Amino acid sequence: MRVILLGAPGAGKGTQAQFICERYGIPQISTGDMLRAAVKEGSELGLKVKEIMTSGGLVSDDIIIALVKERIGQPDCANGFLFDGFPRTIPQADAMKEAGVKIDHVLEIAVPDEEIVNRLAGRRVHPASGRVYHVDHNPPKEAGKDDVTGEALIQRDDDSEATVRNRLSVYHDQTAPLVEYYQEWAQQDPANAPAYHKVDGVGSVDDITRQVIDALEG
Ligand code: AP5
Ligand code: ZN
Repeated sequence: MRVILLGAPGAGKGTQAQFICERYGIPQISTGDMLRAAVKEGSELGLKVKEIMTSGGLVSDDIIIALVKERIGQPDCANGFLFDGFPRTIPQADAMKEAGVKIDHVLEIAVPDEEIVNRLAGRRVHPASGRVYHVDHNPPKEAGKDDVTGEALIQRDDDSEATVRNRLSVYHDQTAPLVEYYQEWAQQDPANAPAYHKVDGVGSVDDITRQVIDALEG
């Protein structure tokens, strides 16, 4: 199964990705996690993208498309994958179409902007695995520690309120047009286009997981 998770920063893409990937045995391809790993390593790519990410802007389409094409060619993607945070622009979506990468489902997780700022202020992450928590809504078993490894949780550099507001504005300008892009494609060419599902992203994490499973299996 090949799935795209579409949604604003903080909509819960990473949170739901964990469940979906486990249930269907497919790898999570989070371009955000891949870029953060490159920044941490201090690789050439990391040095190039660090500032853009800290300010909440988008990394160039060329870089992202090359990164994703390389990743989906790896053996663990043979039975499918989940895109988390990709595509994020029309040219990124077109690149997949042109490369003949057939997607089964696009899942939009819809959350209003006011809710997002609160979610990202309370987010804590385990950088090595990408596991995501929230101090109130999805707390780790032991405060400040990852449930699986017990290692320290951190706050992301781009979760300050000013950067979150910039990420939201970039989302509305550059990524939100993909909603119409995939909806129109599904209407015009249902045989080749991915099925489009919209999930209400406000509610408990479990409620949203149930809606996601219904959409994928219903
Ligand atoms: P990326 O890492 O993709 O960030 P994002 O899209 O801004 O999304 P987030 O990871 O912030 O949110 P999420 O939807 O995964 O929410 P989460 O599950 O963590 O990208 C980072 C940067 O990399 C970009 O700004 C850009 O610079 C660059 N980049 C990445 N991909 C790119 C691309 N394709 N092209 C160009 N540039 C790219 O949840 C958020 C919080 O809410 C957590 O604390 C969680 O516990 C909590 N939460 C989750 N669900 C619920 C719920 N139901 N109720 C209450 N709280 C909840
Ligand atoms: Zn994420």
